[in-house]
Amino acid sequence: MIRAASTRERLTGRSPLDCFEDHGQGDFRVHRDIYRDPDIFDLEMTHLFEGGWNLVGLAAEIPQPHDYVTTWLGRTPLILSRDGNGKLHALINSCRHKGAMVAHRQRGNSRTFVCRYHGWTYDTAGRCILVRDEAQGAYPAGFAQLSHDLQPVARFGEYRGILFASLVPDVPPLETWLGELRVMLDLIADQSPHGIECIPGQGRFLYRGNWKLQLENGVDPYHFSATHVSYIQALQQRAAKASVYSRFRSNELQRGTFAFEHGHNTLWGPAPPGKTTPLSWLNDELLQRVGPVRTRWMHYVRNTTVFPNAQFAENASLQLRVWRPLAPDLTEVRTWCLAPVGEPAEARRLRIRQYEEFFNPSGLATPDDLANYEDSQRGLSARQIAWQQGHSRGAGLMEHPEARAAAQELGVNPLAAMVGSFDSGDETIMQPTYRYWRQRLGQPSAEGDQ
Ligand code: FES
Ligand code: FE
Repeated sequence: MIRAASTRERLTGRSPLDCFEDHGQGDFRVHRDIYRDPDIFDLEMTHLFEGGWNLVGLAAEIPQPHDYVTTWLGRTPLILSRDGNGKLHALINSCRHKGAMVAHRQRGNSRTFVCRYHGWTYDTAGRCILVRDEAQGAYPAGFAQLSHDLQPVARFGEYRGILFASLVPDVPPLETWLGELRVMLDLIADQSPHGIECIPGQGRFLYRGNWKLQLENGVDPYHFSATHVSYIQALQQRAAKASVYSRFRSNELQRGTFAFEHGHNTLWGPAPPGKTTPLSWLNDELLQRVGPVRTRWMHYVRNTTVFPNAQFAENASLQLRVWRPLAPDLTEVRTWCLAPVGEPAEARRLRIRQYEEFFNPSGLATPDDLANYEDSQRGLSARQIAWQQGHSRGAGLMEHPEARAAAQELGVNPLAAMVGSFDSGDETIMQPTYRYWRQRLGQPSAEGDQ
């Protein structure tokens, strides 16, 4: 009996059907199976979300001793906690007795986590401080030899207040894995000499679509003027008021993309005019402290992907979004509004208002994006069509000398760089990301490891 090759076999075998057609010079196509195939989803969970570094949270979420938040890394529930001595921990949220989760709230402050099944109790460093009725339990001698503590993740690290974890030990040092992306993260962390804080409140929503629709859209400049018409119209009706996007189709402006190692990337664009962003209140202090070049880059609109599971979106405000794939066609997204510590009250007010206006399911932009993701997922169920045509726009602008000049002034040397007019709508930014994606899923890139 002849059996069709599974996607896993096609991916790891020598089948001509691969996930990409990569002909060089930016001629690059993505197979639609990557958004819909359960076998590919399984490989992604194993190799990307449970097999390497992921962004899991912010130190600013848990500033006080015994603060904690709960989150997920792939299919693994986590607790991020700060113990009584101020040390941060990333613990697997699973009781060592019979596996029940020991922390259930999204966030809190508690000296202990008490398992509600049989009452084993842990402190905020994860130490098991009570096996309930242990003396009466007639345990065998070997029981005392076992660690009953909550299991920490295999690797846990912090960069500029951003927390990363890996469930496997065999990963590069965190700073190596972040590579030049650190320069883009520094542009966020250095906006105040005291760092970045989380504005209270957190968004959480689901969409019926693959996680890579968010990964791509977060750095997709092409969709803005078609998708967000209602937002643009709202801004235009306030013609007297300068806004973040009041010059949004002005083609004298340029914007570009940087694709870094390990799937990370950044989309950048011109700074909004005048005092239309909260950061403009800090301009004088920034010029003095970080100099004119980095101040200008801090003012630029920048969307930065921390592969595989997070993006910082800095335009009308500053959002961190972290996603968790739940199924090939279902994704959870959590969001935070971030701000430099100590910004003036007027700037903070503008930051929150512009955040509410643009982001999240209650804002004017995110619902348009989510509708597109769900529409795309429905359209992608058409098995008769194999290949996307959405990853090569901008190929003729790759390696434009101005793109390298922009990288140089920041002190980075990205794998790929592009600069074009505001409407050029680059899509090539995803090409190095997808080559790395394929490498991590077990199939080396045709162009070698990147
Ligand atoms: Fe936690 Fe039994 S499962 S105490
Ligand atoms: Fe959008």
